[in-house]
Amino acid sequence: MPSREKSSSKKSAILGIDIGGTGIKAAPVDTEKGALLAERYRIDTPRPATPKKVLAALHGVIDHWKWEGSVGCGFPGVMKDGEVYTAANLSKKWIGVNIRDEIEKFHNCKATVINDADAAGLAEMKFGAGMKRNNPGGGVVLMVTLGTGIGTALFVDGQLVRNTEFGHIEMDGVDAETRASALQREIQKLSWKKWGKRVDKYLRHMERYLSPDLFIIGGGVSSSSDKFFPYLKLRAEVVHAEMLNDAGIVGAALGHQI
Ligand code: BGC
Repeated sequence: MPSREKSSSKKSAILGIDIGGTGIKAAPVDTEKGALLAERYRIDTPRPATPKKVLAALHGVIDHWKWEGSVGCGFPGVMKDGEVYTAANLSKKWIGVNIRDEIEKFHNCKATVINDADAAGLAEMKFGAGMKRNNPGGGVVLMVTLGTGIGTALFVDGQLVRNTEFGHIEMDGVDAETRASALQREIQKLSWKKWGKRVDKYLRHMERYLSPDLFIIGGGVSSSSDKFFPYLKLRAEVVHAEMLNDAGIVGAALGHQI
């Protein structure tokens, strides 16, 4: 394992950073192998999660690694050219903030910032549950991350269609993520069965609209897939994510290369 001082020396190494509603996680990533080059470093996301506080924390994370190479970052909102377009579960003050420019200016490096679910999807397609479909003719794959919100990443023949926000489709008259996210299971104290049926309803909506060949279910809860997969009644194949905790970080780094 390389020392922190040397961690940017490997050619394919990119510092991957996953900004989430509860934590900011980062590690140098070998983007050829899809592996972390050192144990990930995590800090709590400051509350309230305003740009000022979170950016200060983010700079601290990059400094922790004494990083001199490129940085790839995932953020839970629509991202275009480094700029935040939406922030459903963080402070609305984020809208219009260019995170890429902030990182580049502060650390004198090259940076890329993409949507967090797109990042997780890139990692699963390249190194995890979507590998077999990551090619021309691979069909339609929808990665769905169940966490604080619901994130989606759509792949058509291995190509990412960026910034899909299918977690916000209407279901039962409300925003779907307020019914079927993993956080809602906890807040509403839903049984696995009750929540599993909501997830099934959500995925069936998606199936009606997109007819995916494969659903990849990610987010921390995907490690408990045996508890809710029995309630999923879809025509498409459904698998759980394989990279679990690392997908966000690895995918954020991969985002720097697409
Ligand atoms: C956001 C998405 C994000 C997802 C998962 C949603 O509320 O709108 O951009 O990918 O949560 O974090």
